[in-house]
Amino acid sequence: MTSGRTADGSAGDADYGTIGGAYAAYRRPEPRIAALIEQALAGARTVLNVGAGAGSYESSAFEVTPVEPSASMRAQRPAHLPAAVDAVAEDLPFPDDTFDAAMTTFSVHQWNDVQAGLREVRRVTRGPVAVLTCDPDLVRDFWLYEYAPLVLDTEARRYPSIDVITEALGGHADVTTVPIPADCVDGFNEAYYARPEMLLDPAARQSCSSWSFVEPDLARQYTERLAQDLTSGAWDQRHGHLRRQPHLSGSLVLVRAS
Ligand SMILES: C[S@@+](CC[C@H](N)C(=O)[O-])C[C@H]1O[C@@H](n2cnc3c(N)ncnc32)[C@H](O)[C@@H]1O
Repeated sequence: MTSGRTADGSAGDADYGTIGGAYAAYRRPEPRIAALIEQALAGARTVLNVGAGAGSYESSAFEVTPVEPSASMRAQRPAHLPAAVDAVAEDLPFPDDTFDAAMTTFSVHQWNDVQAGLREVRRVTRGPVAVLTCDPDLVRDFWLYEYAPLVLDTEARRYPSIDVITEALGGHADVTTVPIPADCVDGFNEAYYARPEMLLDPAARQSCSSWSFVEPDLARQYTERLAQDLTSGAWDQRHGHLRRQPHLSGSLVLVRAS
């Protein structure tokens, strides 16, 4: 075991050796989000993907070099994608200006030192850096906060502010809200805004690392209340309109620094 990393190699604040088993099944790349990332990196040939996990959002339009510290996540990469380099964002094993562009998706909130990690990404990248993440100021606006406050408090605490990300990448970035489709196939919490029943599935919750920070008994209480409100119709009375809403503008953002 490397210092600061679990037996699985996980380097962030979540242990994917424990929670990562069903990740690739529940966290599939959402094509409409993938298109926005590809657009943000347009013109690049070589792309670094940090915290690459099982390979979501790696486009065949680019020559991608994935970096991923967790063995469980590396093992879930499909055979057609390149094998990931076992390294961490904070210490990237590449010379300065190696890549045309870089990306990181749903990862920066887990890094031990997000500023150091993003400075490293900037160091090894000549062109744009795209960061798909959540704005911590907006995380608690989601209806799930009524049911699982500690889960979203945890998310809000973990996500770095957009200012911190922008500063670490050199001080200038475009920030775009990413619309979340109602049938989003990448199962982060807000992806289920119109399908609350999905959050009753333990494997769906396990694939969102914030649930792993809450005691199992408390998580059970949270989901029991949600189940009761779905059975009684109370959830639909308050939020049922979302079932017919094609997109959610929630906390998901794409930060693009050039
Ligand atoms: C929620 S997963 C996202 C995976 C993938 N990017 C995606 O969009 O599905 C977060 C990933 O970040 C990785 N990670 C955590 N800390 C890291 C660090 N310090 N450097 C690089 N990757 C890290 C985890 O091992 C995990 O695979």
